[in-house]
Amino acid sequence: MVQVMKSIFILLSLGMILLLSGCIQPESGPQVKEALASEEWKPNGVVGPNEYARSVVLHGAKTQGYSGGDLEISWKNDDQYLYMALNGSTNGWISVGFEPSEWMKDADIIIGSIEEEKPVVLDEYSTGNYGPHEKDVDLGGTDDILEFGGKEENGFTTVEFKRKLNTGDRFDKIFEPGQEISMIWAMAASENSQTKHNMAKGEAILTLQASGTGFPTSAALTAKESEGILFIEEEEKAARDLYNSLFAADQMTIFKDTAQSEQNHMDSVRPLIERYGLGLSEKNPGRFNNQSLQKIYDQLKQKGIKSPNEALSSAASFEELSIIDLQRELEGTNNEDIRTVYQGLLAGSRKHLRSFAKELKAQGEDYSPQLMNQDEFNKIMG
Ligand code: HEM
Repeated sequence: MVQVMKSIFILLSLGMILLLSGCIQPESGPQVKEALASEEWKPNGVVGPNEYARSVVLHGAKTQGYSGGDLEISWKNDDQYLYMALNGSTNGWISVGFEPSEWMKDADIIIGSIEEEKPVVLDEYSTGNYGPHEKDVDLGGTDDILEFGGKEENGFTTVEFKRKLNTGDRFDKIFEPGQEISMIWAMAASENSQTKHNMAKGEAILTLQASGTGFPTSAALTAKESEGILFIEEEEKAARDLYNSLFAADQMTIFKDTAQSEQNHMDSVRPLIERYGLGLSEKNPGRFNNQSLQKIYDQLKQKGIKSPNEALSSAASFEELSIIDLQRELEGTNNEDIRTVYQGLLAGSRKHLRSFAKELKAQGEDYSPQLMNQDEFNKIMG
């Protein structure tokens, strides 16, 4: 009995020791966050929520000689280029060094700062364990930062830059899609890149995006597909604006509800616009970039505001147009991303056409299709 009690006591004590020492707490390293990377890359010192595919916040503790600080690194790549943003809690320099052989030696260093409101991003190389780090050009290499920019705000410095995965310079490490890059990082309170790091320093691993999984761009679409996406988004806007005007004219709830549904349709096209970096040009209600849409909208609005029945018939013909345009766009693309969105919109437009034609019938009037043939119309109504 005494033996059993002793064993229980030893087990409980061991448990307490483990608990207090933190051994049984899960280890948590820096978390890599993923995003769509659908935003166009702009080296303006502002890191957009979808400008990069991955990001990680690295923390440097306050220790002797170091005041402590955080550096957020965001990156994305395709098969050719690496795009990166460094955002550090300092008004001084921030830096990353790719693949050192030991300490700082042989690290392919990129060091950035904002000097008198001007971004400076240098392509350097550390020749020794504790530096010096020198410009690639001074070592006989080349400056391979293709584009860069940056900003200093509220005690944070952000720099963004682009370089080739393989620059061809012997002072730059060669990267491949999907590669795990070992790197060091450091920050200083001073902008002078020759001043030693006195805020934070550390090591990290960055994993590049695998080949073919790079961020989508408009280059992945045909010109017809790109134009089609922007046209369809604007056509859904024309429907929304038309139904809002008709609701304002005769207060029929069918127009208020359908306008809301058209807003949802517009919202379902927008991820395509973002994903492929197509650049949406917003227009005020009732105004359109496409002049044929402008004309149709103006005509149907003018006709629709005359009476509730004219309004229903105008709305039904707009849905016919929408169906025909969506069918044409669907025929012109094999891109599943786009097809999924268009098929959803097509189902929505058929539903709207049925609702408007039925409402007109309830008012004692039969709707005759204006654009599609009677058979197709009957099929939709059926
Ligand atoms: C500006 C000139 C620089 C000087 C004089 C310098 C000097 C040193 C020295 C003396 C050490 C040894 C440890 C210590 O004292 O804390 C060290 C370590 C380190 N330095 Fe630098 N450094 C410079 C720039 C950089 C830059 C630009 C980076 C950016 C990547 C960097 C990253 C590191 C890291 C990560 C360590 C720790 C390495 C390890 O623990 O293996 N240094 N540096």
